[in-house]
Amino acid sequence: ARPNGLIIAIDGPSGAGKSTIARLLAKRLGYLQIDTGAMYRAVAFLVGQAGIDPGDVAAVERLCNNADIRLDNANCSLRVYANGQDVTESIRTPEMSLMTSRISALRPVRESMMLLQRRLGQDGGVVLEGRDIGTAVFPDAELKFFLFASPEERGKRRYAELVGNGERVTLEETIEAVTRRDRQDSQRDIAPLRQAEDAIPVDSSHSSIDEVLNKMEDIARGKIQQA
Ligand code: DC
Repeated sequence: ARPNGLIIAIDGPSGAGKSTIARLLAKRLGYLQIDTGAMYRAVAFLVGQAGIDPGDVAAVERLCNNADIRLDNANCSLRVYANGQDVTESIRTPEMSLMTSRISALRPVRESMMLLQRRLGQDGGVVLEGRDIGTAVFPDAELKFFLFASPEERGKRRYAELVGNGERVTLEETIEAVTRRDRQDSQRDIAPLRQAEDAIPVDSSHSSIDEVLNKMEDIARGKIQQA
């Protein structure tokens, strides 16, 4: 058993509701939420800011070795810092999403973020959300979920979110971007998006956040009692 509780992994494609569910589940359980996508986004931000060509893997590696990425979950709202700069909002644009999907396929990026994620999560009492938590980062996590929904549904949700943030996008291009990112994330060589064999699949296409959350909380509480 781990000192602070279970490691709960939530993997799945973009727009399936992982961030919302991870935040609320962590809150209900009194666990820490670790948004690993935000870490990759922060690295992508730094790569762009430094004007590094993503094809220059040695330069990306140097940047990763010196990057200071922090997540601050105070008051149940997540703030993300990259080398001391608050990048919470700037990492959420559609351009940054595609850029992150590309940057996150690079070996030095995955290696450095994986080390950081293991360090943050190893004592348990955490909900980690991402693409490869149950398969690569914590294959021995006590509880794994694979959260998914149809591409149309995920596109619609992402669209509503982006429009809410004042982005000027169309539904069609949002569905297209979501599908493209899925393809990139699932087909890369290192730690692609994949359901772990021992992960519990959860389809959020036709369920409300509360329904999904209640189901996952019940399963988590059952596991916590057994532990
Ligand atoms: O979850 P998100 O949309 O914020 O993730 C942004 C990108 O980061 C996503 O397209 C793929 C990558 N990612 C990853 O490769 N591994 C993770 N554990 C989390 C995210």
